[in-house]
Amino acid sequence: MKTTKDFLQMKERGEAIVMVTAYDYPSARLAEQADVDLILVGDSLGMVVLGYESTVPVTVDDMIHHTKAVRRGAKNTFIVTDMPFMSYHVSKEDTMKNACRIIQESYADAVKVEGADEVLDTIYSLTKAGVPVVAHLGLTPQSVGVLGGYKVQGKDAESARKLIEDAKKCEEAGAMALVLECVPMQLAAEISTMLSIPTIGIGAGNQTDGQVLVYHDLITYGVERVPKFVKAYASVQDAIVNGIRQYTQEVKARQFPATEHSFTMKEEELAALYG
Ligand code: KIV
Ligand code: NA
Repeated sequence: MKTTKDFLQMKERGEAIVMVTAYDYPSARLAEQADVDLILVGDSLGMVVLGYESTVPVTVDDMIHHTKAVRRGAKNTFIVTDMPFMSYHVSKEDTMKNACRIIQESYADAVKVEGADEVLDTIYSLTKAGVPVVAHLGLTPQSVGVLGGYKVQGKDAESARKLIEDAKKCEEAGAMALVLECVPMQLAAEISTMLSIPTIGIGAGNQTDGQVLVYHDLITYGVERVPKFVKAYASVQDAIVNGIRQYTQEVKARQFPATEHSFTMKEEELAALYG
């Protein structure tokens, strides 16, 4: 399994870092088979798997439940688990306890938190306590209510300057990596050059040290619309719907199951049964 040190070295070598989300055993198995460098158990879980409107309703227990399944499917891949909404804001004690539960109960290798400012102290304390932390700046979906929607961040000089400062502070606080979501490519490039820790971009252009995409977006699985920054590398949902539809038709037509899918008794046993 790759470690935080490997990710730093990959950045130094200019080798792109590949991250994808996964939420359960099969998605984790397939991601590991496809040789990704890290798996993110994102709180996007809430939207793509649990059907919520945002990531806000996701709980620590949800994250643990799904990370356990991901770990069982990807024993040899570095797993980052999102700390969900409000699980690192109420008090320092609760923050440490929640992160500790995620690491100890689900065997995640690191946690991810959104934002800078008051979150910097959390990054620092968790890192000091031995928990690797991935920071997340730009569009931070847990703050969608405050941001006023899912919009590109850091487009004007003032907010770009703040993002650059925040990125620096995340690194200083001890973050092992920084996710940059929905920021102009020039800004993401600048931040990536400035930091020694790897940046992992989503909707942040081609100059970040790595990329991350949401599993269901990448393979078009149960999603209706994908953001501009997504490239769909496969479409499994048509195959799934067609498969289930054909099953439905064959059951209705009494074509399934055929004899080849059925078990039989020997003639003599049948005779003994009815004889
Ligand atoms: O929850 C998630 O999937 C994420 C990625 C989009 C970075 O945080
Ligand atoms: Na997330």
